[in-house]
Amino acid sequence: MENFTAYNPTKLHFGKGVTEQLGETVKEYGKKVLLMYGKGSVQKNGIYEKVIQQLNSINAEIIEYSGIKSNPLVNDVIDAAQIGKLNQIDVIVAVGGGSVIDSAKVTALAIANNTDPWAFMKYKVKPQTTKPLIAILTLAATGTEMNGAAVLQNHKTKEKIGYVSSLMYPAHSFLDPEFTYSVPKNYTAYGIVDLIAHSLEAYFGEGDASLSDRFVEAVIKEAMEYGPLVLKEPTNYELRAKIMWAATVALNGQTSHGRKYGDWGVHDIGHNLSYLYDTPHGATLSIAYPAWLRLQKNRIHDRIVKLGNQLFGTNSADETIALLEKFFKSLDCPVRLADINIGIEKKEEITKQMLNNQIDGMVHKFTDDDRKQIVELMF
Ligand code: NZQ
Ligand code: ZN
Repeated sequence: MENFTAYNPTKLHFGKGVTEQLGETVKEYGKKVLLMYGKGSVQKNGIYEKVIQQLNSINAEIIEYSGIKSNPLVNDVIDAAQIGKLNQIDVIVAVGGGSVIDSAKVTALAIANNTDPWAFMKYKVKPQTTKPLIAILTLAATGTEMNGAAVLQNHKTKEKIGYVSSLMYPAHSFLDPEFTYSVPKNYTAYGIVDLIAHSLEAYFGEGDASLSDRFVEAVIKEAMEYGPLVLKEPTNYELRAKIMWAATVALNGQTSHGRKYGDWGVHDIGHNLSYLYDTPHGATLSIAYPAWLRLQKNRIHDRIVKLGNQLFGTNSADETIALLEKFFKSLDCPVRLADINIGIEKKEEITKQMLNNQIDGMVHKFTDDDRKQIVELMF
């Protein structure tokens, strides 16, 4: 087992009605609130109204920044930070999925350090401090509610990249499974794929951590058992709760303690596909994971077999990959580029993007030949 530091300062409030404590929690940090959200789902499903009631109950001064898109842009963070600085806000309240919460994390850094957010994202400037962030999660998928990561895209540099800082853990996260009832079927499924992918990135990391392996297996089994059921019963509280908690645990440190690194090669492929075609994050992963496993099949054969044995009771790497792919398909998620209407004529464009950005894993490194092969395997 590798040495590790367990650190997770987020206070996570989970369950029915937890946001009734939002007002009191915000008050601990001040009354000038930068309220960030996306393109309007929170207004349609009534979550916005509940948040506003809570903020009004403490006479908060609310400054809004909305319209953050899925696969979020650094430009929105620059604009939100500008508004936050101008209004000298005390605290950020972010209401949404990964895109909104990630944007809010980097906005908090940009306000507190008065620095170009992309300089943090590229690890050129180390932030010294941040503004407190309170997250209200509306979509179970990314784990951002209890980790120090954020992912943004930048059209100038043609990148979608992740950034990790111990300053970016939300101070509080509120997770009410009822808030996810209105997530459409496709995004619910992408969330299930995402949480499985996070578990796998930990599993294929470096180091021997048998307890973390067991956590990974447990989280994936939870997703495989309850994921298909929640798609049939989107307003079943228990099912939404199980998937929501599984998504948090998949990327809050629990599945990777005792390992040196997770791998993240599949995420790098996915981010570049999202950059090119604005494909939802989870949909890029259901295409990229089977391709990555096929590329690595002979290199990490025994590890794939161990996984397959635990998840499916098979001793064949090929069968493990085929069964994982079949599961993604059963959720109606794409497993080939053709499934998201990307034809072979795009091969050159995708290969160029993968080569230019030198997509890579942390442990399982790619050669340029691997980068080309990965693209082939996704068609
Ligand atoms: O913009 P609105 O109108 O709010 O609609 C959103 C968006 O269209 C909608 N939605 C969210 N909650 C809803 C809802 N619709 C109805 N009811 C609700 N309760 O869902 C759509 C997708 O939202 P988004 O936030 O983009 O999805 P997700 O949570 O999957 O986040 C994806 C982003 O997170 C990054 C991804 O790369 C991607 O940019 N990731 C962040 C990670 C992290 N910080 O740790 C790790 C992940 O691996 C991932 O990379
Ligand atoms: Zn992910």
